[in-house]
Amino acid sequence: MSPGRPLFKKVAITGGAGYVGSALVPHLLQEGYDVTVMDLYLYGRHVFKGVEHADRLHEVEVDIRDETAVARHLAGVDAVIHLACVSNDPSFELNPALGRSINYDAFRGLLRAVSSHRIKRFIYASSSSVYGVKEERDVHEDMTCEPLTDYSKYKLLCEDLLKQGRWRDMEWVILRPATVCGWAPRLRLDLTVNTLTIHALVRKKITVFGGSQLRPNIHIQDMAAAYGLLLEAPREAVKGETFNIGTQNCSVSEIADIVRSEIGDGSVTIVTEPTEDLRSYHINSDRIRRTLGFKPRWTIQDAVRSLVEAYRAGKVHDPLNNISYYNIKTMQALKLEEGLYV
Ligand SMILES: NC(=O)c1ccc[n+]([C@@H]2O[C@H](COP(=O)([O-])OP(=O)(O)OC[C@H]3O[C@@H](n4cnc5c(N)ncnc54)[C@H](O)[C@@H]3O)[C@@H](O)[C@H]2O)c1
Repeated sequence: MSPGRPLFKKVAITGGAGYVGSALVPHLLQEGYDVTVMDLYLYGRHVFKGVEHADRLHEVEVDIRDETAVARHLAGVDAVIHLACVSNDPSFELNPALGRSINYDAFRGLLRAVSSHRIKRFIYASSSSVYGVKEERDVHEDMTCEPLTDYSKYKLLCEDLLKQGRWRDMEWVILRPATVCGWAPRLRLDLTVNTLTIHALVRKKITVFGGSQLRPNIHIQDMAAAYGLLLEAPREAVKGETFNIGTQNCSVSEIADIVRSEIGDGSVTIVTEPTEDLRSYHINSDRIRRTLGFKPRWTIQDAVRSLVEAYRAGKVHDPLNNISYYNIKTMQALKLEEGLYV
């Protein structure tokens, strides 16, 4: 950990066994934190096999909707990063009542538990999708939010709960991330850059619908570093703040071109199909750069390269059929109900 900065020793991460968590947890262990992962392990238990500094990692299988259990496991924790979620539109729409119970209803109980333990810092993973579609190119944090889906709507409602609550000394901060990309131990292949890359590798063909639509992106290692920065930042820089976090807004066609050129053997064809859905999403992340000095280290090219290397090294198993890479397919197979899961 950086010397001279406020230091939280014990960090709990809800949903820490997911895609982002699988990169964030090793990063925080490396930085010297004690990390408690609180997760249902919907996408598998293999995530932290062989991780370095495992003696400082505590894994707890818990449903974040179980307030009593959550409160019990938060004893002694200094900071919480809240990632647990039904984390995309289609999985949410599969069972909206279940989605709401995890993404929104559980949030109140989690906040009560955090507050009752007087946990100092609470970092909430919202989403840049809360803005909906905007004509403006530079969508910044003070613009109105017009979420278009229930997933985004409940992300925003959780933000409101944080903003409206009285949390004594709790320093809460909201992060609105772009779409994450690149290889991680719990891999998602249902995100734009990752999907296009895997199709290029396996099918040798990328189908782009439209192509001019802009998408904001962030490399998974930069995502992990950003959460680390939010833990290290002084109270006055983060308390009650909202930050966008993305590093490159790119059109889908540009992403396809990057993928083809990174694979580099001339084998990949890009096919463009017409679509009526030309909605663009793009964000401005100057605030986190200005306030916290966040500097991205990685590009979309790096993310594609990490996926190509992992695939060629045999680390991505049956990528088009393995349901653990696709949130909606896993959720369909698990047939989760609204009741507590564990
Ligand atoms: N990945 C992205 O591109 C992206 C972009 C913007 C925001 N986010 C947000 O970041 C967070 C992490 O995203 P991700 O891609 O790692 O998602 P993910 O789906 O890979 O991980 C979510 C984790 O939450 C766990 N979980 C789900 N319901 C739970 C419950 N009731 N109790 C305990 N654990 C539960 C799952 O088992 C999973 O490990 C999410 O909140 C997501 O909305 C992600």
